[in-house]
Amino acid sequence: MSSSFKSNDHAVQSIDAEGNFPISVEDMESAAKQAMPAPAFSYIASGAGGEDTARKNTDAFKKYSIIPRLLNDVSNLDTSITMLGRIYPNPFLLAPIGVLKLADEQGDLAVARAAANSNVPFIQSTVSSYSIENIAQAASGSSKWFQLYWAKDEEISFNMVKRAEDAGYEAIVLTIDTITLGYREKDLYHRFSPLAQGYGQGNFESDPVFLSKLEEIHSRTIVESIVDNINYPALDWEHVKELKRRTSLPILLKGILHPEDALRAIRYGVDGIIVSNHGGRQLDGVISSIDALPEIVKVVDGQIPILFDSGVRRGIDALKVLAFGADAVLLGRPYVYSLAAGGEKGVERFLANFLQDFQTSMMLSGVKNIEELRQMKIVNM
Ligand SMILES: Cc1cc2nc3c(=O)[nH]c(=O)nc-3n(C[C@H](O)[C@H](O)[C@H](O)COP(=O)(O)O)c2cc1C
Repeated sequence: MSSSFKSNDHAVQSIDAEGNFPISVEDMESAAKQAMPAPAFSYIASGAGGEDTARKNTDAFKKYSIIPRLLNDVSNLDTSITMLGRIYPNPFLLAPIGVLKLADEQGDLAVARAAANSNVPFIQSTVSSYSIENIAQAASGSSKWFQLYWAKDEEISFNMVKRAEDAGYEAIVLTIDTITLGYREKDLYHRFSPLAQGYGQGNFESDPVFLSKLEEIHSRTIVESIVDNINYPALDWEHVKELKRRTSLPILLKGILHPEDALRAIRYGVDGIIVSNHGGRQLDGVISSIDALPEIVKVVDGQIPILFDSGVRRGIDALKVLAFGADAVLLGRPYVYSLAAGGEKGVERFLANFLQDFQTSMMLSGVKNIEELRQMKIVNM
């Protein structure tokens, strides 16, 4: 582990004097690679094991094609959706991504502000670099959700959920695929753990319940206790039931890949699910998210919202996800690359480009709104 490691505080270099910023996700990724120390870039970009699932996530999109309907006056597009009783102007959210200070000193604060300015809800990670309250203040009035990694000492989890509730967050996303960290060969090679270096403790160092459980408060014990707490292989459906009892916010489960688990989520009263394999960072060898989606849509049959992530890189990918019948799409790595390459402005630029790409794709597919999009014909050929 390199003790001289520094977060990326030279980010704005990638926006030049004329305001140019990479447009394609591949160029954004290259700019991020240049802007960051190799272990940090690799932490963001890589997947678990031999990275087959990470590769499949993006490759699998290419198998599917949509069949457009034309001559359908698309001069007035409506990209809004109604989900969990609220209207969202776009069918997109920013996926929860921890340790964002790795990419830019302002980390989650920059992302939350850019998301707010772009009308895209931000899902804050448990292991964010800044606290719930800091982020709520930095982007007040905007739509925010909180992602929970269950803590072994569950009073810590319940207190974080309460803090999110008090700060006006709109939903809780319980991530169920990270009961222990995936076997990430590149991070092992680099001996790199951003959590161990203190990049993910914003919510913990500000949590009175967490702090009250520490015998001695110094950064080493904070880090050890975070790692110990979020490693929790005992997580099961009873915890979901308990979480439901403890909060009035809607609960979504993130990491569903099996149709039976989707149905079980409904039986347990969960408010929504996120079809995701964590960007291929957890178990290498699992199905790509887009391949898992159609069967889940079929069994859920509109009973609860289905959100999706893993592998969305362009507007057309999002279009395919919605055409399969999902309700909303989470954007992941691309926004982290844009943060590393251009700070807050970079994230804004990426989101503006992505929304434009998506709207152009909608128009050229001949659909005026998201309901029409969800009925669109999509084939595997
Ligand atoms: C660097 C990094 C950190 C992440 N941290 C979290 C996290 O703290 N909580 C979580 O639920 N998911 C986390 N994820 C997973 C994302 O929420 C999302 O599932 C994934 O990025 C989707 O894959 P894609 O980015 O390749 O599209 C992380 C992903 C990356 C790349």
